[in-house]
Order: sequence, then C-alpha cells, then structure tokens
Amino acid sequence: MSLVRKAVIPAAGFGTRFLPATKSQPKEMLPIVDRPTIQFVVEEAIASGLHDILIITSSEKRSIEDHFDKNAELERRLAKDGKDAELAALRRLSDLANIHYIRQKEPLGLGDALRYARQHVEDEPFALLLGDTIVQSHEPCTRQLMRVFDFQGRSIIGLEKVPHDKVDRYGIISGKLINGRLYLLDDLIEKPTPAKAPSDLAIGGRYILTPRIFESIEKTTPGKNGEIQLTDAIRLMKNKEPVYGYHFEGVRHDIGNRLDYVCTFIEFALAREDIGPAVREHLKSLLK
Ligand code: G1P
Repeated sequence: MSLVRKAVIPAAGFGTRFLPATKSQPKEMLPIVDRPTIQFVVEEAIASGLHDILIITSSEKRSIEDHFDKNAELERRLAKDGKDAELAALRRLSDLANIHYIRQKEPLGLGDALRYARQHVEDEPFALLLGDTIVQSHEPCTRQLMRVFDFQGRSIIGLEKVPHDKVDRYGIISGKLINGRLYLLDDLIEKPTPAKAPSDLAIGGRYILTPRIFESIEKTTPGKNGEIQLTDAIRLMKNKEPVYGYHFEGVRHDIGNRLDYVCTFIEFALAREDIGPAVREHLKSLLK
C-alpha cells in the first residue's frame, strides 16, 4: 500500500489556444479518437492505485462531470439495442473511481486552482496530474512517482527532457542527479527564455506533493503571466523541505497546444487495432 491515496486533477484553464472548439466545452474533453483527454488522465490515476480523485473545474466545464457520471437513459437504450460492448464500456467509466469535483472561482493560475484541493486532501501527500497531459508508459507515470515517494517521503516532480528551444513552454528545473533518474532540486523557474533556462529538464505535468504545498501557495504572489504559479509555490516550499525530481520513463503528450494535439490524435489512431491500418493507408495516399 502506498502512502499516497488521493489524486487531484486540475482542469480549470480556459483553453484559449483551442478556440473556437473550447468556447463551450473544456479542452480536457477534446477527444483522442473516441476518448476525451481527461479520461486517459483519470485512467492513469486508477491504474496507479488511486481511487479517490478530485477534479478541479471551473464554470463551462459541466461536461466533465457528466462524462464520468452514470447516464441511465443511454444505458437503457444500449441494452435494448443489444450493444453490450458499448454498455460495458460506459458502465466501467461510471464505476471507475470515486470522483469529486470543486470549482475554481476565477482563472488565477494553476497554483490558485490547487488551493481549492486543500480541504479534500487534508493532511496527506497526494498525486497531482494535469488534465491536459497524457503520459504513455509501461508503468503508469504517477505510479513511478509514488514508488519514489514511498521511499523518499518528499515531494517528487515528474521530469522530462525537452528540446532547448521549447523550454519557454514549461517549468524548468536545476538540480543534482542523485542516482539513475532521481534529482535533488536546486531551483525551478516557470517558462524561462532559452538563455535563462538552467537545464532542459521540464516539469512534465505529474507531481506527488506533500500538504506543505498549501502553505506555500498562500505565500505565492502572481508570477509569469500575472498568475499564481504552482512552480513558484514549489520553489518556496523547497526552502522548508527538500523537493526531488524524477525523470520518468514514458512519452508525454501535451494536449494543450494544437500541433501536439493533432500529432497525438494521429499517433493514437495509428495504434488502434480497428482503424489503425486504414488510417495508415490513408496517410500514405495523402503523402504521396
Ligand atoms: C503547466 C506548469 C508548467 C509545466 C506544464 C506541463 O504549464 O505551470 O510548469 O511544465 O504545465 O505541461 P501550462 O502548460 O499549464 O502553461
């Protein structure tokens, strides 16, 4: 049994990079073939052994709650039409976990969104999974971080290497490699220019945090883009207790920007047994 039992998934951002698609639906509901992005994230939490999940939403995000809720009328219809596979898939979804919701009142940044989790998380370490990021890996990414946490007992930030010219899209860390994939962090900086970036190791949207983060968030002033940045709060927390980084095994897909979204969609479609071969043929003919 891990010491980490709860997962928090912030899904409260505006999704302005996807307008007009995100005018009335959250970016976390954009599908990758036939599954909304946030479903992959919830499934990662469950595959990591976390069944208590808090999703932080905002106004205009009701469809996330509906998606994970039971739809009795649709289930009756599928049963009547003999669509057993579809029915089983829907039931599995509504039975997946104990999912709770809370709304961020104003879009003041990721750090601010996390404040709303304090009451639910209480005095426990918890996993934080960004709702617009999918990680494909052999062992679920969050599970990898939980393993390190259970050994180290300190906050762990999932890291990935990014190309140097893309560091300004991420939180970037500097730290000492302790062993294998584990770093002791010296510093963190949110979206630096390539010239100011202390490394190419980016915060990859997966974290295990101790509850001390909530005190640090309260002391965090607006940073990059005038928002309360989680990266800045972790930086403050690091003055009180050590924070580690773990370069996780796996491939991260960022659904938060158009190009990566389209590439992820194509990759996942190609990997499907049912439609993959036809998609491949179609792409080949388009590229000829
Ligand atoms: C957030 C975090 C950033 C992290 C990134 C990963 O930024 O603030 O530190 O590297 O997620 O996707 P956002 O993408 O929400 O701007």
